Parts: sequence; structure tokens; C-alpha cells
Amino acid sequence: TQSLTVLGIETSCDETAASVVRGPANRKILSNVIRSQIDEHVEFGGVVPEIAARAHIDVLDRIVKDAMKDASCDWNDIDAVAATAGPGLIGGVIVGLMTAKAIAMAAGKPLIAVNHLEGHALTARLTDDLAFPFLLLLVSGGHSQFLLVKNVGDYQRLGTTIDDAIGEAFDKTAKLLGLPYPGGPAVERMAKQGDVTRFKLPRPLLNRPGLDMSFAGLKTALRTQAKNLEPIDEQTVADLCAAFQRAVADVLASRTKTALALFAESYPGIAPTIVVAGGVAANQEIRSALTTAADEAGARFIAPPMQLCTDNAAMIAWAGIERLRLGPVDDMKIAPRPRWPL
Ligand code: KG4
Ligand code: ZN
Repeated sequence: TQSLTVLGIETSCDETAASVVRGPANRKILSNVIRSQIDEHVEFGGVVPEIAARAHIDVLDRIVKDAMKDASCDWNDIDAVAATAGPGLIGGVIVGLMTAKAIAMAAGKPLIAVNHLEGHALTARLTDDLAFPFLLLLVSGGHSQFLLVKNVGDYQRLGTTIDDAIGEAFDKTAKLLGLPYPGGPAVERMAKQGDVTRFKLPRPLLNRPGLDMSFAGLKTALRTQAKNLEPIDEQTVADLCAAFQRAVADVLASRTKTALALFAESYPGIAPTIVVAGGVAANQEIRSALTTAADEAGARFIAPPMQLCTDNAAMIAWAGIERLRLGPVDDMKIAPRPRWPL
């Protein structure tokens, strides 16, 4: 196989990122620059789209320059420019895609408009030797879904949340308990000191077949229990966090087993692999629940390094490489898409 070098750009949420990746032969991340906007959004308790878009404009040129410099590349070394074209916050997506178009045009390189979810879906093929098909569990602030990854461009969504994304549920739960944004790490920290047996929370939808999930009810149940105890002390917050985190881990482990059983039915000859991606994959209790579920099903479990699980541009550059080697890419007319199912 040939070796291609692609510049990737990611601006769909609150990370401004650029990266240069080489592959598929001798695959290597040559640079991976990320600037998080957490500081800009923390006082609002969540990502403010308008602030996000402006912050992307302010820093993206610098971030791209740094990525090229870290990779010791000039434009002659680059085969194509890839950028997230959706789904995501539209202001940020416009900034990234328009910047990529400008660079592609000025440098005379092809443009690849990447679906952000495709970036997450293919990351494990950058970090590990992994053939199609495999299962992906994507758990972030915006998405909670099981995907069957059959090939580049060939994905089947097997199940999704019918309400809040898991990261969103962590963030809302944190807010409700007076913990800082982003909520996931805060809830996990508190849960470590919590008594997981004190509160009983539901396991939403688990009595139903299939792979859909629900997390909004969990947060409501938690709110109801917290209300009865007001004003709540720190130990109670910790106990509630522990119960919440355990409920989420249980739901994910159970659904993962169902997904693996489904995979075994569809592909009896192929050893199953499940990959986890998204910010929530940082959670240790969730990781270990998934590891156990995969072990019990005799499946391989892959959790890419954390900086490649959360939003980054290396995954966009890599998706660009996977697309580029299959042939024709996108033309300059392609538009940013706030919604874009795989
Ligand atoms: O993938 P990501 O960085 O950004 C997108 O949403 O695309 O994921 C961020 C989400 C946030 O909702 C955050 O609260 C959650 O991931 N998160 C966690 C943890 N770290 C981040 N959730 C649970 N436990 C964690 N340790
Ligand atoms: Zn993401």
C-alpha cells in the first residue's frame, strides 16, 4: 500500500485541533495539536456555540501552523487536507471547513470533508491492527451509540440513546449536584468517595430488547432522591454520584453484551472486537465494566489512548487517509452540515 500524508482539522465542538498523519503504510501521527476551550465555557456551565465559533477563528491558523511545524512538513509533503464537515455546532464546523477549503485551494491539494463520527469510528485502525467488521461504542457529550463498522463509508447504527447522550447526562447530573463543568470527571471524582449501595437508581430500557438506551430518566430519578434530602451534604453528593455512575456502567455493559451477541450471529466466523470512543471512555468504572463484558463474551476490547478517544484532529486526518486511498474525494462546493448521520 501507498503512504499518504494528510492534514486534519477538527472544530465541531469545543476543541480546536490540527494534526498531520501518515498512512496507511507506515502509519504514524506526525503531529497532534489540540487547544481546549474549557476555560472560555466554564463560567457558563457548558459549551456556548457563539463563543466556541469565535474562539476557533482566533486560534485555528496558529494551531494549523503548529501542527505543520511539529510534523516538520511543508505543503509539498501534504497529499490532502481533511476537515470535519459535521455533525456539530455549525459555527465551529464552518470555521474548520472553510479554513480547510482555503488551504486546499491555495496549496492545490484535494479536500476531504469528514463526518466527525466517521473519525471516531476509524480511530482504532490508526492505533491498532484492526480489520473490518467491528463494533464501536461511541459515548461522548453529543453521542451515545452502537455502530457496526463494516468498511470505510459503510456503517450501520445498531442502537442509540433515545434522549440524553451519556456525557450530557453526566454534565447535567453534575450541574444538579453543584459540581463543575465538565461534569464527567467531577462525578467520577466524587463517586470514588461514595457508597454505591445507598441509593437505588433505575436501569432504563434494560427490560426491552435491542440496543437503544435512555439516560434522561436516570437524571430525573436522581433529582427526585436528592430533593428529599435537601440541603444535601458532601457525602450524599458522593453517594448519588456513585449510584449514577454504577447505573450507567451497568446499562452500557448489558447493552455491550447484547451487541456482541448480535455480532456473533451476523459474523459467526469472525472474532468479535468492540472499540470504545468518546470522552466518557475516560471513566474508569465504565471502562472496567466494558472490559468485563467483552471478556465474558470472548471479545477483544480496544480503548484507544484517551487523547485519541476525545475530540482530536488525528482521527480526522486518519479518516481522510482511509477515504483518499479509495479514490475520489470531495469538491469545493461541499457544505457544512450541523446534522449528518453516518
Ligand atoms: O468526546 P468528548 O471530549 O466531546 C464530545 O462530546 O464530542 O466528550 C466530552 C464528554 C463530556 O460530556 C464529559 O462530561 C464526558 O465526556 N466525560 C466523562 C469523563 N470525562 C469526560 N464522563 C464520565 N467520566 C469521565 N471521566
Ligand atoms: Zn466527538
